Amino acid sequence: MVNSFEFHSPTKIYFGNGAENRTGAILRDFGATSVLLVYGGNSARKSGLLDLIRYSLKEQNLSVTELGGVVPNPRVNKVYEGISAGLRTHVDFVLAIGGGSCIDTAKAIAYGIAEADRDVWELFAHKRKATACLPVGSVLTIAAAGSESSNGCVITNEATGEKRAYDDDLARPKFAVMNPAYTMSLPDFQTESGCVDIMMHTMERYFTNSGNMEITDAIAEGLLRTVMKNAVILHQNPVNYDARAEVMWAGSLAHNDLTCCGNGGGDFMSHQLEHELGGMFDVTHGAGLAAIWPSWARYVYRDCMTRFVKFARNVMDITIEGSDEEIAEAGICAMENFYHSIGMPVNIRELGIAPTEGQIEEMADRCRTACGEHRGSARRLSVEDMIQIYKNAR
Ligand code: NZQ
Ligand code: ZN
Repeated sequence: MVNSFEFHSPTKIYFGNGAENRTGAILRDFGATSVLLVYGGNSARKSGLLDLIRYSLKEQNLSVTELGGVVPNPRVNKVYEGISAGLRTHVDFVLAIGGGSCIDTAKAIAYGIAEADRDVWELFAHKRKATACLPVGSVLTIAAAGSESSNGCVITNEATGEKRAYDDDLARPKFAVMNPAYTMSLPDFQTESGCVDIMMHTMERYFTNSGNMEITDAIAEGLLRTVMKNAVILHQNPVNYDARAEVMWAGSLAHNDLTCCGNGGGDFMSHQLEHELGGMFDVTHGAGLAAIWPSWARYVYRDCMTRFVKFARNVMDITIEGSDEEIAEAGICAMENFYHSIGMPVNIRELGIAPTEGQIEEMADRCRTACGEHRGSARRLSVEDMIQIYKNAR
């Protein structure tokens, strides 16, 4: 049955070659006067994009404050640094240049500046809800997290190793500038990890017991097939513009909630389990998801059989005759083969880490805390289930 839903995806997209040159004018259109520019390590400097954006903002006489050095699995201390800098210079807009880590840092700073008398980490610890947030925009350089159009924000507290998400429409970006050409400099591992993340945002919403809507499933299946096809092309030819474009647009559609309309809120337990791996071992998010998913899928598929069979048939092209169980298992195997074909891991060992029993128990315990009441839809997981999924993934 089709679930009732609300869908509002207000992020304005500027897509294509040269789109970045308009960034200053776009910011003006959105009412910005003083902008905090948030970027990462070296890639935006090296590609020349950072200088180009600086120039575009200067052309519009915008005041600019800069915060570089955001790292993957972005840290709350960098967020605090950005809040202080932004308050000092009275910024009224936060612009990220980069991927999920820079955009999430920008969102967290935007929350922190808007409620300067409160500790922003309280949002991630789920102790309160935000009541205000500065406007955020991005110039995207990696197709992956979908943060450019999502209401999510994921930050790691380096003191405790907790990686926590806070979702709120207040931080949904006003705009995203996307020129696929700027993603061509990505190392293959980051490109393919990004493709996995995009696919997983779709699959998290697909494997659900909460509702059914044919049009939503068709969009999700088409998106998955398109990303798989282009992930293979990019594995061989990283400078194929059209493949970059397909994947980049898919990244935004996969996480702006389009693919859960009528299906309920999705499962998201692979994500929850991976976030703990990221918090404890600082692994690349998409690769971490590839390492967890097969174990999760084999643990839960009997409780979500119809969708696993549909996935095997419509996405993985499984044509064998057999029981539902055989078809579902064949679909999971085919996904593992696909991950291997693009250089992705299919278990934690291949991810390059070896958590101890104690670390697994700790991750499962933290995961339970982070999930609250949302412990999956394909199957609701207990802490014992989480421990078993981590163990089976080793
Ligand atoms: O710091 P630089 O030098 O820019 O290097 C980055 C970084 O090392 C590099 N990179 C980015 N664009 C590049 C490039 N290198 C060469 N050329 C380019 N054009 O790529 C590395 C990874 O960047 P990052 O921003 O971390 O990648 P991604 O977009 O995958 O973001 C991952 C983060 O987003 C969170 C993840 O948990 C993780 O912390 N997520 C955020 C979500 C959201 N807000 O909605 C949802 C996701 O499920 C996810 O959890
Ligand atoms: Zn993700």
